[in-house]
Amino acid sequence: MVGGSMWWKNGVLYQVYPRSFQDSDGDGVGDLDGVAMRLDHLAWLGVDAIWLNPIHPSPNRDWGYDVSDYLDVAPELGGMPALDRLIAEASRREIRVILDLVPNHTSDRHPWFLDALTGPDAEHRAWYVWADPSPDGGPPNNWRSTFGGPAWTFDDSSDQYFLHNFLPQQPDLNWWNDEVRDEFDRILRFWFDRGVAGFRIDVAHAIVKDRELRDDPMAPPGIGAPESAEPPETFSMHRPEVHDVLRRWRRIADAYEPRRVLIGETWARSLPDLARYYGEGEELHLAFNFAFASAPFEAAALREVIEATEVALDDAWPLWTASNHDIGRLATRWAGGDEARVRCALFVLLMLQGTPVLYAGDEIGLPEVEILDAQRRDEGVRADGRGRDGGRTPMPWTSDPGAGFTEPHVEPWLPLGESVTPVEDQRANIDSVLHWCRRLVRFRADLRGSRSGSQMLLDAPEGVLAWRLGSGPTLAANLGDRPLPVDIPGRIVLASDPSREGHTLGSAMNGWSCVILETG
Ligand code: GLC
Repeated sequence: MVGGSMWWKNGVLYQVYPRSFQDSDGDGVGDLDGVAMRLDHLAWLGVDAIWLNPIHPSPNRDWGYDVSDYLDVAPELGGMPALDRLIAEASRREIRVILDLVPNHTSDRHPWFLDALTGPDAEHRAWYVWADPSPDGGPPNNWRSTFGGPAWTFDDSSDQYFLHNFLPQQPDLNWWNDEVRDEFDRILRFWFDRGVAGFRIDVAHAIVKDRELRDDPMAPPGIGAPESAEPPETFSMHRPEVHDVLRRWRRIADAYEPRRVLIGETWARSLPDLARYYGEGEELHLAFNFAFASAPFEAAALREVIEATEVALDDAWPLWTASNHDIGRLATRWAGGDEARVRCALFVLLMLQGTPVLYAGDEIGLPEVEILDAQRRDEGVRADGRGRDGGRTPMPWTSDPGAGFTEPHVEPWLPLGESVTPVEDQRANIDSVLHWCRRLVRFRADLRGSRSGSQMLLDAPEGVLAWRLGSGPTLAANLGDRPLPVDIPGRIVLASDPSREGHTLGSAMNGWSCVILETG
């Protein structure tokens, strides 16, 4: 592997949803040999690492997030040989491979759970969270599943309930059990030894539960949430004890050369809470900032969350993303499908100080796809009540039938969207969103080492987001329809309207435009 231990600080990460990236064997489902076939695209774009959504054997009730074997690769994705090939091919292009670790729960088909179901004396019984019914026979406490309904399912044969934060087919592991902790240490080392560069850790904020399984407090009426809202998860998630586990994993990751990176899916309650997942530099290297991803795409709102992130994180390194397989795609969420807005969204995402994560398709402005009920594959739901399939559809590579994703006569596992120009055509057009994205990625890469100091948000008219990267360039984006007076000295070195490059800003910025200025 290449690069120093802190490669991820200046790198661009790229999330690949393996089932939707490239199908290499004509079954309509993407696979790991398919990802390898597209590595040249990623190298051309300039990404430093790919994070693969779960690739382990799984009954796919939650599309890989219900793992039935942590030490293997799903046969439909190509099995272990395909992963080894992918790691080798990626490494030849200086691209690292990051896997998704799912420690909160297993599949209900995992041999550990099948064993646990055989009764209270089973070897793996205590690897899961079991509890007697409450006195009225109902669930042991008031915890709710993220996907709706109680977080408990009754097991007739033992007269006990088991816990599941998500689907009943995803029983939660018991992180108070030392055998579970030891087993996951082994799982981490197994993949690190195989050349995996790190993990994105699923549900990192919630794996440890209150040991006494106390009820979550109900939201006090009138404060913030209405009385009918789900209770805030004080005991079912966000436990302080999770930090012991993260420290333990960090020690393992740091013992490797080069060091492996740990990235948390951290649905924190606040930005100071998010900062805690970095610890004092001895927990996660990077933690997803959903306050940023969930902000409206408006200058004032973004400025507020960026500023609050800077204050809360202090020396810890921010991670920026605006799309993923759960929340959907930035081209839809932030840009409403409008190309000029997509360019601005990519600009903000890629040019803030910190590590950006592109979700496959962001680079071409891929919008979400309307999914009919009959096409629905996902049993989970997003916070806004919509299914997640629309943000997981296959990558359109070409304008041929099958979009270059699969063979022309094959129906892909989720429908292809047709509302965006595919990769191949965008690559042939120097003015495309794809080329814009690549220019930004390259500009970032060229900045490496050539600047010092931290980012400074600048005063700007309402609607404009402007910042300076330490001793480096100044950046500005007009995130609104109207031209606005903006007065920043210097020469434009990169602009969403390339005809502005080489000039000064003059006195105004057009609506939905962005520039980078060399201010000397
Ligand atoms: C995470 C994943 C999501 C999955 C859930 C349960 O939030 O990103 O896709 O459904 O965990 O594993």
